[in-house]
Amino acid sequence: MGAKIIDGKEIATRIKSSLKSDIQRLAPIRGFIPKLAVILVGDDPASSIYVKNKEKACKEIGMGSQVIRLDSNVTQDLLLSEIHRLNNDKDTHGILVQLPLPKHIDESVVINAIDPKKDVDGFQPINMGKLFVGEKGFQPCTPKGIIALIKETGEDIMGKHAVIMGRSNIVGKPVSIMLLNENATVTICHSKTQNLKELARSADILIIAMGRPETIDEEYIKTGAIVIDVGTTRVDGKLKGDVVFERACHKAGWITPVPGGVGPMTITMLLKNTMQAAYHNE
Ligand code: GUN
Repeated sequence: MGAKIIDGKEIATRIKSSLKSDIQRLAPIRGFIPKLAVILVGDDPASSIYVKNKEKACKEIGMGSQVIRLDSNVTQDLLLSEIHRLNNDKDTHGILVQLPLPKHIDESVVINAIDPKKDVDGFQPINMGKLFVGEKGFQPCTPKGIIALIKETGEDIMGKHAVIMGRSNIVGKPVSIMLLNENATVTICHSKTQNLKELARSADILIIAMGRPETIDEEYIKTGAIVIDVGTTRVDGKLKGDVVFERACHKAGWITPVPGGVGPMTITMLLKNTMQAAYHNE
């Protein structure tokens, strides 16, 4: 095994501990603690676990949190009025609507209703637009966590060829823009891409966010590349990445494990964004 492991769990723990000290220092000066409100519609088991983990992470660092649970057949209007209430609540600094939403609700209308200054998920088109033009705003949490993990390796991003497999609005597209903003040369691949293997093999930084468990092996990896596995699919109760870790690690220079790679960073970046919303949003 050649690759060095990028230990997302350890890095996330370190960042959380620094956020905890920031709150302890800033709360007495500013007179309030940051607070995150999470809206969960319905009782999807996976979403319920994600929301519980967010609540737990807030507690861990001394951040306030509130979970608003709405019935799966709640009307879109009622959900929107809840968002408007939180937009106007001065004690709420970050708002997150857990996705996916039930089919009768228009996700983009709901995301658009969140005040961009409280959009700690970074999904609001205003924040997406700011990311696009390189202005300061809220950056989506998983891509922000990925950039932090790459920087932890100490390797330069500037001038490197980054290949992103997956073009979702949540991961593939935003992480491509962030890498471009870091002066990487970026290639975005997707299900219709031809010569996928050749393209992947030319990557100094390979980011895989396809949601297809254990499909990427050493044949897709350039010797010494940084490999970031964003996949998290449950197979027979076990969390699987998109990368065949045991094979990829012989070829990669750096690699993230699943679990314990990108996953822990996502919530940590949500906490970081909520801190930004509370204390640095003027
Ligand atoms: N569902 C899965 N991932 C996410 C996320 O990062 N944010 C929200 N709001 N919902 C999700």
